[in-house]
Amino acid sequence: MADKKAQLVIEGAAPVELPILTGTVGPDVIDVRGLGATGHFTFDPGFMATASCESKITYIDGDKGILLHRGYPIEQLAEQSDYLETCYLLLNGELPNAEQKAQFVSTVKNHTMVHEQLKSFFNGFRRDAHPMAVMCGVVGALSAFYHDSLDINNPQHREISAVRLVAKMPTLAAMVYKYSMGQPMMYPRNDLSYAENFLHADHEQNASTSTVRLAGSSGANPFACIAAGIAALWGPAHGGANEAVLTMLDEIGDVSNIDTFIAKAKDKNDPFKLMGFGHRVYKNRDPRATVMKQTCDEVLRELGIKNDPQLELAMRLEEIALTDPYFIERSLYPNVDFYSGIILKAIGIPTSMFTVIFALARTVGWISHWKEMLSSPYKIGRPRQLYTGEQKRDITALKDRK
Ligand code: CMC
Repeated sequence: MADKKAQLVIEGAAPVELPILTGTVGPDVIDVRGLGATGHFTFDPGFMATASCESKITYIDGDKGILLHRGYPIEQLAEQSDYLETCYLLLNGELPNAEQKAQFVSTVKNHTMVHEQLKSFFNGFRRDAHPMAVMCGVVGALSAFYHDSLDINNPQHREISAVRLVAKMPTLAAMVYKYSMGQPMMYPRNDLSYAENFLHADHEQNASTSTVRLAGSSGANPFACIAAGIAALWGPAHGGANEAVLTMLDEIGDVSNIDTFIAKAKDKNDPFKLMGFGHRVYKNRDPRATVMKQTCDEVLRELGIKNDPQLELAMRLEEIALTDPYFIERSLYPNVDFYSGIILKAIGIPTSMFTVIFALARTVGWISHWKEMLSSPYKIGRPRQLYTGEQKRDITALKDRK
């Protein structure tokens, strides 16, 4: 895996040889682990050019618009597979055969219930609390229900934690919704199928997955790690973008205001960004967005939604982003959350629940990465820094300070 070497020349010091590691596909990586011994660290805020781990789960080629889960293109999974099959694939590395699939579906269904005591956690939240705040709390609280009996070094315990999370997330999401409505909570109906949500199932080392890995690298309880992932997902630059798209459309209000908001998005002194546009990795097209756009068209057609002012706004924004040189030069295409926001709105999901739906779909990805990390030797995640603060100095007594 490390046939090639890179040579780093640091002024005034002997050259340093660094191994180059080659993956199955994708760019080679320069292994800088030996660099610390020379008294240097690498500096890469935001991980613009840093691979934080080795993984066999998901591959993305952002320039070509390719997304593979365990080697299978997302388009094929979307057309020929279903969500629980994709979960099995992410967790185990291979698609299940018919018997394995039946067994997995039945196991997931067996674990959909949550402990009755968990309900009391909801009462601590205001009814108008944001559903993502409640999700962070109640998923974190699951760690209190499965802690003493859970040995993260035991592969079977890791497996059952993964299944528990996949199975309980829809139940918790529904409870969060019912609580926010002031309605009684309902028990899951295991005769119904798990909704199809796989375009969000995994997306390699994004902010929330990296957060789960980082939290997990300290040996923390997996349910607490997933709560950390939910927190990272909530931000509008990540999974919170689907909700932010709708909030933005409300803010723009009318097609006649679009030019003003496009000017704001281009203005470097204005923090406003077009929500649902751009992606760190996809600089061509987001393959999930292609599938999601088709689904979006189908959903709107099926529901007979036409002449909706918000939809008209969204379509006009999409048109501008695909033709305006500012967006073209920066490869700012509509991303998956642009279309998922429109779909979720059209099928009647309340806006504040959008990111919860994303979280429940992504849970399998988070827990697959957590499992993968713990299945082989790993180190606690501990980045270094470039310190630019004061040098060592002595305290001035309080009475002498100006
Ligand atoms: N509207 C206007 N300008 C933008 C936008 C946007 N949405 N996104 C990026 N830019 C500009 C940015 O100002 C910069 O311009 P310049 O080169 O002149 O300084 C250039 O495009 C490159 O942007 P960046 O901030 O360096 O890109 P990044 O890789 O750090 O950020 C992003 C990626 C997704 C955080 C960002 O595009 C963004 O905030 N988009 C809106 C939020 C959003 O839709 N997020 C969901 C992402 S998809 C779901 C998921 O996978 O989580």
